Amino acid sequence: LSLNDLNALPEDEFMQRFGGVLEHSPRYAQAVCAGRPYRSAEEVAAAFTGAASQDSPQAQLDLIRAHPDLAGKAALAGEVTAESASEQASAGLDRLSPEEYAEFHRLNAAYHQKFDMPYVVCVREHTKASIMSGAADRLDNTPEQERQQAIHEIGRIARLRVLDLIGPDLNDLA
Ligand code: GUN
Repeated sequence: LSLNDLNALPEDEFMQRFGGVLEHSPRYAQAVCAGRPYRSAEEVAAAFTGAASQDSPQAQLDLIRAHPDLAGKAALAGEVTAESASEQASAGLDRLSPEEYAEFHRLNAAYHQKFDMPYVVCVREHTKASIMSGAADRLDNTPEQERQQAIHEIGRIARLRVLDLIGPDLNDLA
């Protein structure tokens, strides 16, 4: 998709393509759509991350809670978005040993118990081992720190999704 084409898409087509950049939260794509034109894929990605990081704490919690658990029941049942499924597969979270599943289940439960939200990390920037150790480390954070960390990770996830949708930076506008 060229930047010129992106900048000219009708809103409904823009929403079809970019509505899933932030998990189950298309209203951000509406704001990004209204903020056109953009000159690069990174600028589009920054519009998504900016919208999320500037939102109210309650809206940020809603956005975080729109994410499924990593290696959770929904992922096992094939009930997550295509984006989430392929991201989880990139780190091998779709083919864990029974012991690894049990460990994920334990970490997810402890994380939910402390923070009342799912553990979110930009899986594509991590390995199975660093995703697991990250959950254990982040359990030491405060709820406020964890809300900010999760929003940071969601921004990283969104950036990679945007770059996938637009393609490499061959077509930045001057
Ligand atoms: N990191 C990347 N994708 C996801 C997701 O769908 N859920 C969670 N919890 N973290 C993610």
